[in-house]
Amino acid sequence: MRLYLDSADLAAVAPLLETGLFSGVTTNPLILQRAGVRLADVPRLVAALTSAGARSVFVQAVSRDADAMVDEGRRIAGLGEQVVVKLPANRPGLTATVRLARDGYPVLVTAVYHARQAVLAAEAGAWGIAPYVGRMDDAGRDGLAQVGEMQEVLAGSRTLVLAASIRGIDVVHQLALRGIDAVTMSTAVAEALLVDRLTDRAVEEFDAAARTLAGPASGDDSD
Ligand code: E4P
Repeated sequence: MRLYLDSADLAAVAPLLETGLFSGVTTNPLILQRAGVRLADVPRLVAALTSAGARSVFVQAVSRDADAMVDEGRRIAGLGEQVVVKLPANRPGLTATVRLARDGYPVLVTAVYHARQAVLAAEAGAWGIAPYVGRMDDAGRDGLAQVGEMQEVLAGSRTLVLAASIRGIDVVHQLALRGIDAVTMSTAVAEALLVDRLTDRAVEEFDAAARTLAGPASGDDSD
């Protein structure tokens, strides 16, 4: 399962990218707003994330109609080979996805809430879809079950499922159990994933034991 970070906060993302566990970084206008990144600063952010080790950076178009989304999508893709364009799963977004995908641009169709939208995104030639697991739960839908359905719908297609809106660490392995291709998570969730108190306790025991083992080799007493 490929892991991504859902953040535009370079200071929070960089140490996580350094682990080598995360393939890249996903953003959207809300995430940019939270990190205080203006649209004009996005090219600089993409460059900084790439230098920090992101192999993919996802940037969402903010235009409202399909023609403008296509133009903006081309500009976004022009920021670098590692950049994937994000478009919403609405009528203009899907229309623009068809056109950009036809020209060979990778597009992640985002804000996906139902398996029927996965059908449309695959038909549009999307690189992937981003279902919002936590927000589906908030809306009274079973997010994990919906994402499982989407994965089934897309089996045999080239369109991947990149689950988003992840509210806790347990969702990550639940998605993996369902064979989901990829997940993007906040830096807080990612940091929490890297810690288990029982592992820490075991490491403390190993450290204590290791300290008693320091000193010169006890030698070979065969002679
Ligand atoms: C998209 O990639 C995000 O996951 C999206 O902003 C939804 O996340 P949220 O429900 O935590 O806001």
